[in-house]
Amino acid sequence: MDFELTEEQKQIRDLAREFAQKEIAPIASEYDARGEFPRATIKKMGELGLMGIEIPTEYGGAGLDTLCYVLAMEEISKVDASHGTIMSVNNSLFCYGLYKFGDQAQKEKYLVPVASGAKIGAYSLTEPQSGSDAGNMQTLAVAAGDSYVINGRKSWVTSGPVADFIILFAMVRPELKHKGTSAFMIDTAQPGFARGKVEPKLGIRASATCELFFDDYRVAARERVGQDGDGFKIAMSILDAGRIGIAAQALGIAQAAFEASVKYAKEREAFGSKIGDFQAIQWMLADMATRIEAARLLVYNAALKKTRGEKYTRDAAMAKLYASEVASFAADCAIQIHGGMGYSKELPIERYYRDARITRIYEGTSEIQRTIIARETLKQRA
Ligand code: CAA
Repeated sequence: MDFELTEEQKQIRDLAREFAQKEIAPIASEYDARGEFPRATIKKMGELGLMGIEIPTEYGGAGLDTLCYVLAMEEISKVDASHGTIMSVNNSLFCYGLYKFGDQAQKEKYLVPVASGAKIGAYSLTEPQSGSDAGNMQTLAVAAGDSYVINGRKSWVTSGPVADFIILFAMVRPELKHKGTSAFMIDTAQPGFARGKVEPKLGIRASATCELFFDDYRVAARERVGQDGDGFKIAMSILDAGRIGIAAQALGIAQAAFEASVKYAKEREAFGSKIGDFQAIQWMLADMATRIEAARLLVYNAALKKTRGEKYTRDAAMAKLYASEVASFAADCAIQIHGGMGYSKELPIERYYRDARITRIYEGTSEIQRTIIARETLKQRA
């Protein structure tokens, strides 16, 4: 593994860092408190090329590699994980998915505006009865001439309240279970589409999440992404890419918690010394540093494999599993090191703690990541 960063990788990391510190840091806690979608900063991120980092420039993206994406995700999420969530869903779940599986007309119509940040994209797989068991979806797309009529209810759709376009997964032939699913491009301005209330969440509160309702929504067959029956595999393949983004987001949260803790340990005094002089604090910092470094290696490794065109299902699952657990661990240690101040809303530490928690749940729980890692490992050894 060679992690010597190229000039291009350093540039995008520095650009994301500078933008996050200048534009996001001053507003992050207010938007979190209000649970408000940060439209203005997301628009600026689009203008900077941060909403379609891996997408070729002819389709509105920045034309960079996966490590560039990871480095930028980490910098943005270090300052605010809500912006990280919005960025990750737009980049991986929508843009990368459409780039990999969409046809030329779909790319021109939907990818160009979303990758350039002019429009917002989302991904809709989960339903009230099917979260981890994603193949058990009930939303139906019935073929009717040269179109499909969609009816059903989707849940936990990140950016659902604001998305212009959504990649939707639905059943076309329920008797075939996951082999009877298809993917469709949904235009949220069309009739038959409605959004539910915005979910009140523990963390990533500035990223908006809601249910979606399809009531005789008619979609032309040309808006189907891939072939009938390919939906589940497309959904899984896109999630492989998404999990690298969430792993990078978790890494950013962990790094933020760590940096704040080191700073505080050098400043705060107790019993006549800086608290960083005490072994109790030192051991927490040592464990945080070690686990963050290990998580970073896993995330970069998954990114490099994706860039090289190798299979990375297992690597992405490992990166997401480990980095998300490190984010929770680091945020918990940061609160402990800061004591009462860590629990106060005057500092962002309690936000890191709340934001870290979702990374162990969305885009596949830690339990699902372990299942994937075990299955892929057993396949390799067979
Ligand atoms: N890439 C391509 N194909 C894949 C694949 C992958 N990564 N993983 C599985 N497949 C294929 C399999 O090869 C299999 O193909 P065949 O039918 O040809 O044999 C098919 O898909 C079915 O695979 P499984 O038998 O493994 O399916 P399963 O029902 O046992 O489920 C699972 C596997 C890993 C548990 C899967 O259901 C899963 O990942 N669940 C979690 C879903 C998830 O992450 N949801 C989050 C949604 S997004 C979100 O969080 C909200 C948001 O907006 C951010």
